[in-house]
Amino acid sequence: MYENVILERRGRVAVLTINRPDKLNALNIATRNEIVAVFDELRSDAEVRVVVITGSGEKAFIAGADISEFAGRTAHQQREVMRSSRVFSVIEDFPKPVIARINGFCLGGGCELALGCDIRIASSNAKLGQPEINLGIIPGGGGTQRLTRLVGEGKAMELILTGKIITAQDALEIGLVNEVVAPEELDARVMELANQIAEKSPIALQAAKESVKTAARANLREGLEREVDLFALCFASEDKEEGVRAFLEKRKPEFTGR
Ligand code: COA
Repeated sequence: MYENVILERRGRVAVLTINRPDKLNALNIATRNEIVAVFDELRSDAEVRVVVITGSGEKAFIAGADISEFAGRTAHQQREVMRSSRVFSVIEDFPKPVIARINGFCLGGGCELALGCDIRIASSNAKLGQPEINLGIIPGGGGTQRLTRLVGEGKAMELILTGKIITAQDALEIGLVNEVVAPEELDARVMELANQIAEKSPIALQAAKESVKTAARANLREGLEREVDLFALCFASEDKEEGVRAFLEKRKPEFTGR
């Protein structure tokens, strides 16, 4: 059904693999459209509680936008492309948690895609950066905004102005990734984390993600009010009753998503 991506379901976790290893999984228009279509499909799939995004092959997560599509493209055409497949915002606004499994080069639009995810786990051999400046352009998929919010203005400026590519360990030190693991442990660690999150109430997960995202979108007062609203909304769910009862009865909760 998809040509550039592979969608697998592993229990409650969906794994989306960008599958253009010959081009280091660079994001061409067709791939971006397929990513958006996959997220549309997964949105209404109640079985899926967490999504993992990764790259095919040993070498790359995603080496950026497909540079071959930039040649000869006009400003107007580029604007239309960026408006039509807003893959980064689709991931950020997705109601379920999304984990980036960074298995190699994570550059430009690939880094921006990872920034749109909720948690980033990198292989120790991954390399990250925003090298757009070397092409005479700037990050256009949220890099100047999301990277700055995540690592602070100084580090974001350094990465974006120099275009330098950093190691996974350096990315961990500045808070760009949550964890670094050995390549052979990456799959197990990401699935362990995804399954751990997938056990929670999907209603609470959605509220938690929306509330945390509000921190970057609203001022403190508005954010705190939104948090109270979302907290109270959880009280409308059966999952809240189940979670509280399970604690009181000293047993593991079984969340149904109702
Ligand atoms: N867009 C299109 N094609 C890309 C690509 C991209 N962003 N990144 C890699 N590729 C292609 C290469 O053109 C090459 O294709 P070919 O075999 O048909 O020539 C293939 O993927 C393998 O890449 P190659 O450059 O040979 O691998 P390498 O190990 O020598 O270098 C990188 C790896 C990541 C350092 C290098 O590919 C690179 O700099 N890529 C561009 C990164 C970038 O600037 N991203 C931001 C874009 S806005």
